[in-house]
Amino acid sequence: MAKSLTFTCTACGAAHQKWAGRCDACGAWNTIVEEAPLSAGPAAKSLGASRGRAIALGDLATTEAPPPRSSSGLGELDRVLGGGLVPASAILVGGDPGIGKSTLLLQAAAAFASSGLSCVYVSGEEASAQVRMRAQRLGLAQAPVKLATETNLRDILTTLEAEKPDLAIIDSVQTMWADNVDSAPGSVSQVRACAHELTTFAKRKGTAVILVGHVTKEGQIAGPRVVEHMVDTVLYFEGERGHQFRILRAVKNRFGPADEIGVFEMTGQGLGEVPNPSALFLSDRDTPVPGSAVFAGIEGTRPVLTEVQALVAPSPLGTPRRTVVGLDSGRLSTILAVLEARCGIPFAGLDVFLNVAGGMRVTEPAADLAVASALLSAREDTPLPADCVVFGEISLSGALRAVGQSENRLKEAQKLGFSTAIAPTSTKLAGDVSGMKVLRMPDLTTFVGDIFGAG
Ligand code: TYD
Ligand code: MG
Repeated sequence: MAKSLTFTCTACGAAHQKWAGRCDACGAWNTIVEEAPLSAGPAAKSLGASRGRAIALGDLATTEAPPPRSSSGLGELDRVLGGGLVPASAILVGGDPGIGKSTLLLQAAAAFASSGLSCVYVSGEEASAQVRMRAQRLGLAQAPVKLATETNLRDILTTLEAEKPDLAIIDSVQTMWADNVDSAPGSVSQVRACAHELTTFAKRKGTAVILVGHVTKEGQIAGPRVVEHMVDTVLYFEGERGHQFRILRAVKNRFGPADEIGVFEMTGQGLGEVPNPSALFLSDRDTPVPGSAVFAGIEGTRPVLTEVQALVAPSPLGTPRRTVVGLDSGRLSTILAVLEARCGIPFAGLDVFLNVAGGMRVTEPAADLAVASALLSAREDTPLPADCVVFGEISLSGALRAVGQSENRLKEAQKLGFSTAIAPTSTKLAGDVSGMKVLRMPDLTTFVGDIFGAG
């Protein structure tokens, strides 16, 4: 009897009897794909029954040197890659359309090429003339980068096979088309097949491959999540359209720390590096204003200070607005609920707007106390002291929890001219950070009473 087809969700792996638009198991949309059935008969019996080839087993210890890394000369890019480009690695760079992925990678290609690597840049989205014009505008026209515009993957692989470059950039994986897969470019199976072919090529030939991937409205790299599993490194290029700052964030890195960020500034001459992001994210702060708190955060291995801004105003609406930019909106709801339940400070009937200045995105729980400070400061119309930074996680009980790398946070704050920090009582410091006064708070109620004289 012929076995019926099986359908599998590419997001959670659940098996389904028939195709559906939404996976019952994980709730994801458009993730169910058809899989070839396991063949019936003797071959489908347990694999242990047939004899396989013995695999040589090795030790963990190695005498081999770690892979040599190539530096691009763009310090912020090298930092996000974990200290430079690793040969034979596959890297996915995702981001919104128009955020600057092609600009960044053209600059990266030129930088790597100028440092002695052979680079091929394949564009499936723009004509060669367009890429050349951009290179000219960026002052990179003389860089020894080899350029092609092509979308046929077979031709691209044949070319790369002959060329054997150190680095190949594919812009973008959604435009590529493998002729052995019977669906349109950009579809799940095409993107998966192309990413698979290109990552396999990277491992086989020792060429580092950078794939550009588009991001869907929900912020995920379009196509199956499986592309993210296939590659060694996943970088997101993010930023607010209205701001000139762009952040390259490592969300996965097999060759270095994840969560590392590189900060760039979009100018008329392309992307410039921003080696000291704290100074940049703190907007003009001469006079203290209500609703602003400086958060001493950690991004990857580097401390970064950012300004959290809040505005609280009476709401004309039945359900007051909660607008958040640069932070998780769920986190805001939690903090508002804790303020109400544990400190008796209601926000019902008030619109709340929360924003991280400069287009930065903060994901650390350590930002909780800074968010609460900005909210309270806006609500009470009382500015926080001008020379003060804030960090700490708020638990649902209203207690403040210590966060990691406190000393690095304090040192960065001190470097930028701050002299006071508000932190949880349990914050551990190996020694004093000279010139920084630490106000230790056990819980949110004490914090509200001490800083705002209410509670
Ligand atoms: P692009 O690299 O084409 O974005 P993506 O590949 O992510 O879609 O970036 C295009 C944007 O960058 C465009 O809106 C113009 C802007 N830009 C500058 O501001 N300055 C520059 O020097 C360049 C090349 C682009
Ligand atoms: Mg592009």
